[in-house]
Amino acid sequence: METKLNQYLTEINETIARIHYPAAPDGLYEPVRYTLSLGGKRIRPLLTLMGCELFGKHRSEAIAPATAIEIFHNFTLLHDDVMDKAELRRGKPTVHCVWDEITAILSGDVMQIMAYKELARTPQPYLKEVLEIFSEMAAEICEGQQFDMEFEHTSNVSVDDYLMMIRLKTAILLGCALKIGARIADAPPIEADLLYRFGEEIGLAFQLKDDYLDVYGDSSTFGKKIGGDILNNKKTFMLISALNKADEQTRSELNRWIGLESFDPEEKITAVTRIYNQLGIDRLCEEEMEKHYRHALTSLQEIAVGEEKKEMLYYIAGQMMKRTV
Ligand code: IPE
Ligand code: IPE
Ligand code: MG
Ligand code: MG
Ligand code: MG
Repeated sequence: METKLNQYLTEINETIARIHYPAAPDGLYEPVRYTLSLGGKRIRPLLTLMGCELFGKHRSEAIAPATAIEIFHNFTLLHDDVMDKAELRRGKPTVHCVWDEITAILSGDVMQIMAYKELARTPQPYLKEVLEIFSEMAAEICEGQQFDMEFEHTSNVSVDDYLMMIRLKTAILLGCALKIGARIADAPPIEADLLYRFGEEIGLAFQLKDDYLDVYGDSSTFGKKIGGDILNNKKTFMLISALNKADEQTRSELNRWIGLESFDPEEKITAVTRIYNQLGIDRLCEEEMEKHYRHALTSLQEIAVGEEKKEMLYYIAGQMMKRTV
């Protein structure tokens, strides 16, 4: 399984390495090259290729949209890091730190265009539908990101609000990646939608895990700075659950940290993490993750394709749950 996965990854990375960049201006394209060469897990394009093969077509048919999706994902990271004031990604300084915010905005913009150029290479009979699926998803990610930012300043965000927000900003991209692959392989719409559901649920678990690792991860493997979400008052499942579970005194301590305009960052991270630990929020978050993982597996089981053909999807879903990166 590992060998097969590496083969797929090599194909994706080779396609990305072959991307042609105009000679100038270097200030626009160098950050794009920087971002795309830093790797990352390449989960989304892998899912597109797997979605295609699940329904019996060779993955090479889906390589163009797979690449488009990865470029698009990387574009969202450039802008996201500006929005989240993040200094580290994939173990390296973020684009707006190496260059500046204007560069991150504009290089991000051009990456969006590059993604669409790549998408346009989708085999003809599928192009129109793929464009529709992709564009709807792209707008929904913006919606999710807007909610994410608004929630930083909203005090009564519920777990349902949170799930709605992460579905938009993260989960549907995984769903779309799979569905596009499936449709290119002529999957019946009902089956393609089941695969989309699988992607969505695994995507919810994926973002829950991302939020978990933002507190409990190891920066040297996770590649991002630990505690960023706490500093930004991100309304994660963990923060919402802590506010719900805490007694009066602990809740007002949490709210005090949330409301503080100036503070020592390390002190805030330590204090909030301690509250999470006291309340057993880590375990609660893991349970929520496992719930969505189970939902994902149920959708995958329902797809009318031999179980043996689903092996890679089961495998990658398991890997995503276990990840520390
Ligand atoms: C990061 O995605 C953004 C989220 C949706 C959590 P990944 O964790 O897939 O990032 P890379 O591409 O592997 O770096
Ligand atoms: C990312 O969510 C979602 C998108 C980029 C659309 P996060 O803000 O949690 O992702 P990281 O942690 O910066 O990778
Ligand atoms: Mg971020
Ligand atoms: Mg963000
Ligand atoms: Mg995160």
